[in-house]
Amino acid sequence: MRSGPSDRSASGIGAATERDRPQRHAHVARGAHAPLPQDAQRSQFATELLAGLARRPRSVSPKFFYDATGSALFDRICELPEYYPTRTEISLLAERAGEIADCIGPDTDIVEFGAGSSRKIGLLLAALQRPRRFVPVDISGDYLQAAARRLRDDWPGLDVHPLVADFTRAFALPPPIPLDGRGHARRIGFFPGSSIGNFAPAEALRFLRRAARLLRGGGLLVGVDLVKDPAVLHAAYNDSQGVTAAFNRNLLERANRELGTDFDPGRFAHYAFYEPVRQRIEMHLLSLARQQVSLCGRRFEFAAGETLHTENSYKFTVDGFRALAIRAGFAPGPVWLDRDGLFSVHWLQAPGAPS
Ligand SMILES: C[S@@+](CC[C@H](N)C(=O)[O-])C[C@H]1O[C@@H](n2cnc3c(N)ncnc32)[C@H](O)[C@@H]1O
Repeated sequence: MRSGPSDRSASGIGAATERDRPQRHAHVARGAHAPLPQDAQRSQFATELLAGLARRPRSVSPKFFYDATGSALFDRICELPEYYPTRTEISLLAERAGEIADCIGPDTDIVEFGAGSSRKIGLLLAALQRPRRFVPVDISGDYLQAAARRLRDDWPGLDVHPLVADFTRAFALPPPIPLDGRGHARRIGFFPGSSIGNFAPAEALRFLRRAARLLRGGGLLVGVDLVKDPAVLHAAYNDSQGVTAAFNRNLLERANRELGTDFDPGRFAHYAFYEPVRQRIEMHLLSLARQQVSLCGRRFEFAAGETLHTENSYKFTVDGFRALAIRAGFAPGPVWLDRDGLFSVHWLQAPGAPS
């Protein structure tokens, strides 16, 4: 199930009045930012891929999945029958929008980390009182700008301020929004899609600590995938249509397009499995033969069966995630789960927030 801003079911239990909500077709707010120079992104990709191919076991950050092709493939993954996280999280956001809006409060400046096509934010916007600005942050520049244009059309009263940035590094947010004589709009983070699970535990703690500082006085709404039957997890990352495989292989195709590598994607298998000790899905590209690849004048040999590790997706228990949030400086608030206990949405109060 996908929901856009036109899905008014989300407002059914919303706490906001019609007058308080951003209205359609009032005025179009502008705030586009120039994307990071392609060259800077390319050279970072080259540097990190070189390091990743040189180390053993070989690995590269999942952030490099997301060029325009990768972002479009991810949206297709979200539609797959096996991929329960997106539809479960959307249902939770739609059903509990009113309670969530009560936690978040009025007059907010919302920052979405890894916004992609920004499909989920409309469910919150429909329920929130006077959201003042939406700052979608993503590394996939063209995709982000296109999503921001759609949002401006759908929510003309809202200031949409896209920011092309890597959220694993420090980046500057636009200045706070003053509220006539009443301080500033509260900064709220939105981090859906269980992207928090793509970090190793120490990185997740670092990200959450930085978010707690950035969101001081506000809070973070975060979607977290839960530990469950490995068969359900296995199916979600090994879909029958091969879309996840295409998403994984796109990393090699992107390297060929942008960096002039000579990967033969057909000679790498998509290989994803649940690792129960670390409670994570691991995604790899597995070499089907002995082969060589060249990057920036260096040659790397893959033995048959050797892999390039492309993604982890950690799964959490509710208590485990709340403990992590506390270590990062947040005060965990309500948590919402679907009936089958597949997925969770957590409200975390940042330091300095009124309780
Ligand atoms: C799993 S998708 C989630 C998309 C969307 N938020 C959702 O819930 O459906 C991850 C998103 O984060 C973005 N992303 C991944 N790594 C990133 C990074 N280091 N900095 C900024 N954006 C990143 C990707 O481009 C992608 O849009």
